[in-house]
Amino acid sequence: MIGTGYVGLTTGACLAALGHQVTCVDVDDVKVARLAAGRVDILEPGLEELVTRGLAARRLRFVVGARAAVAGADAVYLCVPTPMGAGGAADLRAVEAVIAEIADVLPAGCAVVTKSTVPVGTAQRIRALLGRDDVPVVANPEFLREGTAVADFMHPDRIVVGSDDDAAARRIADLYRDLSAPNVITDAASAELVKYAANCFLAMKLSYVNAIAELCERLGADIVSVTEGMGHDRRIGRSFLKPGPGWGGSCLPKDTHALVQVAESVGFDFSLLTAAIVENIAQRDRIVAKIAGAVGGSLAAARIGVLGLAFKAGTNDLRDSPALSVTSMLAAHGAEVTAYDPAVREALPGMTVVDDPYQVAKDADAIVVLTEWAEFTKLDWGYVADLMQGDGVVDTRNLLEPRTITDAGLSYVGLGRPRPARVALPSPSGVAS
Ligand code: UDX
Repeated sequence: MIGTGYVGLTTGACLAALGHQVTCVDVDDVKVARLAAGRVDILEPGLEELVTRGLAARRLRFVVGARAAVAGADAVYLCVPTPMGAGGAADLRAVEAVIAEIADVLPAGCAVVTKSTVPVGTAQRIRALLGRDDVPVVANPEFLREGTAVADFMHPDRIVVGSDDDAAARRIADLYRDLSAPNVITDAASAELVKYAANCFLAMKLSYVNAIAELCERLGADIVSVTEGMGHDRRIGRSFLKPGPGWGGSCLPKDTHALVQVAESVGFDFSLLTAAIVENIAQRDRIVAKIAGAVGGSLAAARIGVLGLAFKAGTNDLRDSPALSVTSMLAAHGAEVTAYDPAVREALPGMTVVDDPYQVAKDADAIVVLTEWAEFTKLDWGYVADLMQGDGVVDTRNLLEPRTITDAGLSYVGLGRPRPARVALPSPSGVAS
């Protein structure tokens, strides 16, 4: 397993749990030493336990350097980053560097498996770079969501394996024989495209829902009922229908741009997907406008308390987090931003990060929920109201119960939801506010 990021570490630890002998490789010696001691730095339920068990059972080991690690391997998985490069295309330099490093020491018959999301045609390119007829290349994309990666690995919706060497594809599929899931065994290009086609579909679904939420606001409809009514249609499905501050994370933004680029490279203008990306940017602008509305129109010198920075709940990952785009736009408009996230403690530009949710409420003109952490529903909103200077609560995840907020004397703004009437509470002076 080359690369011990989210994908490599989860795949390695899970394959070891399935009974395989796994060597995880990284270039970062500090990380390798920590992992070898059973220390996992990413927030992923169940992962540290699997790593510890794999180490104890001697089915999992961590080493620096790929050359020695591939000796005797039946399969080498590439789990190195493929970030967004120039013009939106995936940057494959890490993959190419690994291939250059191991090409001459790979044992004959050992399959090179791409696990990271790689553009269509990468398997072919790796074959050319390897320059070896005795080493098959197999595409085996992952569909792991952060925060549920171990569960997603162990209970997958499907296993996709593609190679132009059918026997090699079947050998890799067989590594997962103890998992119960449909297998899609196909050619390399199709397997590579499945990953992009699936992730981009999800991104389009979310942009669509965010646009419908906007329409709900303008038409006086409620997105909660609308998506419930849509979701009962089995062709649509109930998941991935929640509006939010825009989709983010380490996959959807990069994969949408990469597929637009791939399409362009073969002369196809994928305007449908481009529109989903544009809509995702527009969503952030609309959220900022909503927040401005909650503080009387101008963000200059407004005190904004932010709840949630991670790109979704259950992770401490800030990569391409819509919350960070929104907070930096708020700061650019002159707002003073104080933020709390249960999983984030690091200092971040343009805001003060605090370690207590009530601290963001102190003297705030408005509170904005940007990540759907369940703990925000359990705050004492009456106390929050006492601490605040203003009364605006902008809930970009439709996480809170509107009545709880209005009962606390605050004004609630969700996404695509009718605005609940605010309950008039007597002010301390006895005059209704
Ligand atoms: C995604 C894919 O789901 C996974 O299959 C792939 O392997 C990696 O990319 P992940 O990046 O962990 O997984 O995030 P995901 O749970 O899919 O959420 C992506 C974004 O969509 C987040 O910003 C999330 O907040 C947002 N989202 C998701 C919504 O706004 N509403 C929803 O209903 C669901």
